[in-house]
Amino acid sequence: MTQKKRIGILTSGGDCPGLNAIIRAVVKYATRKGWEVFGIPRGTDGFVDIVKGDLEIEDLRLKDHGYDVPGVLQGLDVLQFMSGSVLGSISRGNVKNENVTESILAGYRQLGLDALIAIGGDGSLDIIYDLAKKGDWNLVVIPKTIDNDVAFTERSVGFDTARNTVTQALYDLTFTAASHERIMVVQVMGRDAGHLALHSGIAGGADCILIPELTPQLTDNIIDGMTQYIAKLRCDRRKFALIVISEGVRGLEGEKDSYIAETLAHLLKEASHRLCATGDERYCGLDQVDTRATILGHLQRCGVPSSFDRILATLFGIKALHLIEEERYNRLIIWQNGTVESKSLEQIMPLIKWCHQEKTCPSPVDPEGFMVRTALSLGIYLGDSHLSATMSFEDNNFSDAPKPVSEGS
Ligand code: F6P
Repeated sequence: MTQKKRIGILTSGGDCPGLNAIIRAVVKYATRKGWEVFGIPRGTDGFVDIVKGDLEIEDLRLKDHGYDVPGVLQGLDVLQFMSGSVLGSISRGNVKNENVTESILAGYRQLGLDALIAIGGDGSLDIIYDLAKKGDWNLVVIPKTIDNDVAFTERSVGFDTARNTVTQALYDLTFTAASHERIMVVQVMGRDAGHLALHSGIAGGADCILIPELTPQLTDNIIDGMTQYIAKLRCDRRKFALIVISEGVRGLEGEKDSYIAETLAHLLKEASHRLCATGDERYCGLDQVDTRATILGHLQRCGVPSSFDRILATLFGIKALHLIEEERYNRLIIWQNGTVESKSLEQIMPLIKWCHQEKTCPSPVDPEGFMVRTALSLGIYLGDSHLSATMSFEDNNFSDAPKPVSEGS
């Protein structure tokens, strides 16, 4: 039997569905092993509160998680169905303040932890890794984010649920778009990466998907290309269009635009009317085009976690305890080829830190990958460097734009 251990667990960065399912799995398994688990509130801020005396250590002990609903509902195991984090979270970037760092390290020592399970995205990983080095912590990191852009893991907890949420929104918007023959522009989260937009765009039947990996910023070419594409759709009897734009795509001047869907909707309407006014009969169907923008916002971080996210969360939580049991610390748990693995933080942090320094995404969409190629095969417009594989632009003399990447490349 392994020695009894005292584990800390915290959630850091933007919340997402599935965090509570991780906490539940960790507490359930640890309790069965006779280990202790302490939940650190509000990410690493909880350590500071311990030092300040604002928190009693015993109050942080997590017991029987999932069975603590009071009253007649006692015994109900609800934690894995709840989104958000029962521990709370912080997402304010790296605070380089020596006093705060010292307090965090002191709080960790005060708790007397044998190991810490940190649930976070790339940003949190970077910050907590530095703290762990300074404090000589035994750290295990579980990746989470709806953006699915944590390096070295094919999936992060939260992505699948968000993908379902956006897909459902696209489905819902289809019918109002069709009824009014409108162009619906839908803004999807993903600060630096287009995974969420690309996956849900394909699943939700989008006509155009703009992601920062392929369309770093809007250009006149893209607006015109997309408008021409919509004109072609209208000729082909699709009178409405669904356009997905990832929030990471920048405006015409390369500026970050929190309302990029609104901007795009406006530009498309303008371009439609301008092209129509040329009198070119290919664009005459655009005269009545109307556009609307929908920003899905934080609804994408909500909702009952999907079964995949609950399973992933549970697998990751159990794996974290296995690693701690084997005393294999300072590792990132990952999902790779349909199974749970882990990677040494020592090995992966140089790349992650370099990406943060260079302000590039550590795990972007592969522009030549199978998801992009699948979208192209469906004829989805992905920007001016990735025109549809199936739309016959040449036949219609529509554009002299470059050819799409070939299938199987
Ligand atoms: O990283 C996850 C994420 O949801 C991004 O997709 C989004 O840009 C960001 O967090 C929003 O953060 P906040 O909740 O701080 O506005």
